[in-house]
Amino acid sequence: MKRTLYASAAMAALLLAGSGAARAESVTLYCSADEAWCQLMARGFEEETGITVDMTRKSSGETFAQVKAESANPKGDIWWGGTGDPHLQAAEEGLTEAYVSPMRSELNDWAVRQAESAGDRTIGIYSGALGFGYNKNLLEKNNLPVPACWKDLTKPEYKGHIQIANPNSSGTAYTTLATMVQLFGEEGGFDYMKALHKNINQYTKSGSAPIKAAGLGENTIGIVFMHDAVAQTASGFPIVTVAPCEGTGYEIGSMSLISGARHMDAAKKFYDWALTAEVQSRAKDVKSFQVPSNKNATQSEMAPDLSSIKLIDYDFKKYGSSDERKRLLQKWDEDVSTLPQ
Ligand code: F6P
Repeated sequence: MKRTLYASAAMAALLLAGSGAARAESVTLYCSADEAWCQLMARGFEEETGITVDMTRKSSGETFAQVKAESANPKGDIWWGGTGDPHLQAAEEGLTEAYVSPMRSELNDWAVRQAESAGDRTIGIYSGALGFGYNKNLLEKNNLPVPACWKDLTKPEYKGHIQIANPNSSGTAYTTLATMVQLFGEEGGFDYMKALHKNINQYTKSGSAPIKAAGLGENTIGIVFMHDAVAQTASGFPIVTVAPCEGTGYEIGSMSLISGARHMDAAKKFYDWALTAEVQSRAKDVKSFQVPSNKNATQSEMAPDLSSIKLIDYDFKKYGSSDERKRLLQKWDEDVSTLPQ
């Protein structure tokens, strides 16, 4: 009787070990780019490697908060996409893992600099300039002047016509806040955000939602990355993209391995694969018009030409630092979001 028990326990252990070996490899991807691009990446990697991808799409600030909340027991393996600032903050807080990919030599300097400034705990995967877009039919219908500058958006005639995301959840909106502080100084930047607040009809969760709403005719002007406005035009919506006259900030969209990832080998395979020219060249197939970080990747002709846009010298180190990002968000929460409209 005893011997039978031991034998069946040994058999069960063997079966368990066997099922472990046979279990397919998988990776949990936190994605902060556009949903269609996230899907393309997840399905493409699955098809090409046989590794199952469990993908969740959330905005940049939300993903940062999730990675931080899960840090004692990480559930995600890799965070791909989203603005660089919260990736830099995650790196500083030790939430992400250092890695030097063999693909690094193929990348543009700005992508490598992003990695080097964070002790290799993140890397640049794309870049894009901030701006805004408007629905030209709605602008005409409401007899509104064509906005060309950031300062135009604070004029009283645009009251109720502008949408932007909440900078706590959205990397786009945080980039806007940090851009205004860099363009107009701390006080001037917050005065700008307060004046803008009077014209905002809704703070959305996701950064690109305001221009998607404008495309559908539910909102007139959306403050977004210019590539997200161009994507709406490419989809046939009456959206015009504006590079603001004062100059503008930009993002280095980033990717990071999550510290303590359960599937680190698979996550590194995804990381190297996502940096290849061939994979980055697919972005335009889903109307993602950012500038790719791989020098050999091809871009759509519709993509905004960053060399023709007046870009500020965005201080990623400062505005991606933990203290500064926390401070600015808290100040926006206390001094801007609470004001009456
Ligand atoms: O829609 C694409 C995109 O604008 C990326 O370029 C950017 O990194 C990301 O969305 C930011 O999204 P969110 O503002 O929702 O964090």
